[in-house]
Amino acid sequence: MLSRIAQSSKKIALTSGAVRLCSPARVVANVRLSAPKPFVRLQHTKPVHQVFAPLDTFAPRHIGPDSNEIQAMLKQVGAKDMEEMLSKTIPSSIRSPKPLAIKEGIPERELLGRLKAIASKNKVHRSYLGQGYTDTVVPNVILRNVMENPAWYTQYTPYQPEIAQGRLESLINFQTMVTDMTGLPIANASLLDEGTAAAEAMLMTWQAARRKKNLFVVDENCHSQTIACLKTRAESFNIEVVTADIFNYKFDEHKKDLCGVLLQYPNACGTVEDYEALTSSIHSAGGQVAVATDLMALALLKSPGEFGADIALGNAQRFGVPLGFGGPHAAFFACKDEHKRRMPGRLVGVSKDANGKHAYRLALQTREQHIRREKATSNICTAQALLANMSAMYAVYHGPAGIKAIAQRIHNMTAVLAAGIRENGLVVENDGAFFDTLSVKVDSSSSILQKALTKNINLRAINGQTVGVTLDETVTQADVADLLEVFAQEGAPAVSIDTLASALPQVNSFPIQLQRTSAYLEHPIFNSHHSETEMLRYIHHLQSKDLSLVHSMIPLGSCTMKLNATTEMIPITWAEFGNIHPFAPVDQTDGYRIMLQELEKDLEEITGFDGVSLQPNSGAQGEYAGLRVIRAYHDARGDSHRNVCLIPISAHGTNPASAAMAGMDVVIVKCDEDGNLDMEDLKTKAEKYKDNLSAVMITYPSTFGMFERGVAEACEVIHKYGGQVYMDGANLNAQIGLTKPAEIGADVCHMNLHKTFCIPHGGGGPGMGPIACKSHLAPYLPGHPVITTGGQNAIGPISAAPFGSASILPISWAYIKLMGGQGLTNSTKAALLNANYMASRLAPHYEILYTNENGMCGHEFIVDIRPFVDHGVAAIDVAKRLQDFGFHSPTMSWPVTNTLMIEPTESESKVELDRFCDAMIVIRKEIQAVLDGSVSKENNVLVNAPHSLETLMADEWNKPYSRESAAYPMPYLREKKFWPSVSRVDDAYGDRNLMCTCPSPEEYMDQ
Ligand SMILES: Cc1ncc(COP(=O)(O)O)c(C=O)c1O
Repeated sequence: MLSRIAQSSKKIALTSGAVRLCSPARVVANVRLSAPKPFVRLQHTKPVHQVFAPLDTFAPRHIGPDSNEIQAMLKQVGAKDMEEMLSKTIPSSIRSPKPLAIKEGIPERELLGRLKAIASKNKVHRSYLGQGYTDTVVPNVILRNVMENPAWYTQYTPYQPEIAQGRLESLINFQTMVTDMTGLPIANASLLDEGTAAAEAMLMTWQAARRKKNLFVVDENCHSQTIACLKTRAESFNIEVVTADIFNYKFDEHKKDLCGVLLQYPNACGTVEDYEALTSSIHSAGGQVAVATDLMALALLKSPGEFGADIALGNAQRFGVPLGFGGPHAAFFACKDEHKRRMPGRLVGVSKDANGKHAYRLALQTREQHIRREKATSNICTAQALLANMSAMYAVYHGPAGIKAIAQRIHNMTAVLAAGIRENGLVVENDGAFFDTLSVKVDSSSSILQKALTKNINLRAINGQTVGVTLDETVTQADVADLLEVFAQEGAPAVSIDTLASALPQVNSFPIQLQRTSAYLEHPIFNSHHSETEMLRYIHHLQSKDLSLVHSMIPLGSCTMKLNATTEMIPITWAEFGNIHPFAPVDQTDGYRIMLQELEKDLEEITGFDGVSLQPNSGAQGEYAGLRVIRAYHDARGDSHRNVCLIPISAHGTNPASAAMAGMDVVIVKCDEDGNLDMEDLKTKAEKYKDNLSAVMITYPSTFGMFERGVAEACEVIHKYGGQVYMDGANLNAQIGLTKPAEIGADVCHMNLHKTFCIPHGGGGPGMGPIACKSHLAPYLPGHPVITTGGQNAIGPISAAPFGSASILPISWAYIKLMGGQGLTNSTKAALLNANYMASRLAPHYEILYTNENGMCGHEFIVDIRPFVDHGVAAIDVAKRLQDFGFHSPTMSWPVTNTLMIEPTESESKVELDRFCDAMIVIRKEIQAVLDGSVSKENNVLVNAPHSLETLMADEWNKPYSRESAAYPMPYLREKKFWPSVSRVDDAYGDRNLMCTCPSPEEYMDQ
């Protein structure tokens, strides 16, 4: 008990006035050392609330430094107290006049109880609603060891491949699985959801036609949310989306305009159509064919690649990822080889390391926004890596025979159900052409739906007289029997399910020519890990190659890699959140709605805005959503011509890419020498484009980590010329409780919940990028075709699911409730102090770019490596050398080439900050040796970094420094060493020899 008290009293709140407990050292000392005292009657009794005050308060667990550390750090930065540090850092003009109106933090245990009570208001029914989402059995070995495992979910995007080979291998397994199942040669490492993947496919066909053909035809039997997402996206590009009865559409009459077609296979009513002839007639008319499909169905059906499709896409959810009320799930995207350079999202490729050994890495990164900006193939940055890994693991675990058996079982049960329904005298509209979904003709859909509800079953009303039922892997014989009862005619004798099953024909219930004959998942990786022991070891084998927050701080500027607390993570795998279909009847989702509304309210309070949309699935999608909302506002005022978006040169690449996607013309605004927005240039451009000015995009604090003084004035200038201010909220972690985007003057902002609000990065997703806006923009917040969301003049959906990746929102909800208003504010203060402390420790050794007139940075700062470049040491060398010290590099070469941007976050203790600073200082000495010429410019410990075990254990060691100095540059490394699993990866080689599926075992043997 004593040690618990001692532990929890270690940290204190960061402002004066809060209840303080004495330091643990003193408690222990008093207990151990003082002589027994005579009994003294206490003068005062303790207040009751102190007696019962819970000790599992969260804020001191979330915030790294304790009170002693804070004092030492304040001293280092030259501030007498926290308030002085803040006043030197943040312009007083933008400080919030009032503290956050968010209640006191709730202790951890109480919070889980409260959330459980809310979650219990969701009704977990059997949902046979289909439409791209089905229930699935998440193998427990994957649930516990990937989804619930911080070593997987706290990883960063694998930009440092030497310490990310595990997840890169898993993502290449995902790509291989997708190429195998779809029959197309190249697949990416996931997109956000099926709707946005379809939108990306449309743009790919449009770009392939050199943006000259503007007609995109969509089968009316595609999922409605997919069609709606496509239409939203098409508006910005003036692409005409025509929804048609695809078999009766006269493609040859539209040769001049046709860029592409979207088909659904099996379609939204469950019908498996033969698209082969149609595909060739679309090709003859000059169009490309994109097929939205289902990986499970493809285990039995001819693949899209085999019938000529150019692109295949869909949702990999049913490969072992919970429904989660719509997400997060990994969308997949595959295409013909000729389109590979237009591929949206991340692509993992095979390359080689400095020893010539196979190594995985992110390929073709020059397509992405950080290089191509408004010309990028898409704005996707954060995608759905963790969920792609889960789906890949599902395929690894089951293998081809297992997947086929699951698909066959689903199909067989659907066939039994169809036979029973027929026996009941009803008509299955897609009889003889289904995989897992039946469209059943009934007298009244609503009465069937009601009857199903009495058995806790959700069915879909396709129309007034047609009911859809989609079966999945979880369905049992009893479930089929229940469904048959739902479809039974009044008074008719019950049909025997066993008789139906025994009469099941040998052939599948879809056209014979669509039977899959080609093999899939033949690679050994999908044929080796089918026992739980093997699977567990494979997961842990990959995990051991990857550095994550379980090892050390990941100080990536602009990424806010903070604590993802266990209490925040626990609820996401509760069935009450995990097993809800996104289109479940509204009255079954009360728990979700309470949680979502509370989160919206808290986000409004934090940002100062009036409305929130929880739909966007990433920061970049938030940008897109916000800009579309701005467009809709201008349109409604008769200002449709307003299409110029001003963007500072320092902006993240997704800003211009999103603006381009929203159909805006990007005009760049300069920054001055101190990294601030060049106000003169802003004023000049705002005035120059005043007639067409739509918006400015500002990141605050800036991407240089600065609280720019001119920000409020910049907002005024834009407003004066009729524009709107979009604030990129990637850096909101530096604002909470101290200032607010709305108070600064912004009209709309997104929040990266996967940064500021504790959703883990998952190795490149999931993320959530909700937007908040002022009341004049709120009417335009995104809607949804199936579940009502958004404002009264809502723009179309940005995501396939009404609330994006709803099942991870409890993480952010919990973070806010655990911290409370004061805790959140203290957290911001600690984030600022941590950054300034590190900057001040590193300043004698490196030049720190961009500090304010008081020498302070914001929540992050930039270390300049440019002075060393001419001497042969670049930012990449420092980044790789940090791996030898067990650290992930800070953000490299952004926003300034050959710099490192460091963001420690509030969650790191002084000990960890010092460990990182010490490593950087040792590296500086190593750089100095190169500068002095005492070591070779071409062959030194920096340019050869990182040093893998293979390099260090080689018989031959011909480097001009010892193995020891390579591997153990600091003493702690002897105790605590993270080994990069390959040596430096050759990026250029990988792009020249592009290979994006698992290499064959022979290729490994050749090494
Ligand atoms: C400043 C800034 N804006 C936007 C984004 C894009 O966010 P997301 O990756 O969630 O799409 C990032 C991502 O790191 C960022 O740093």
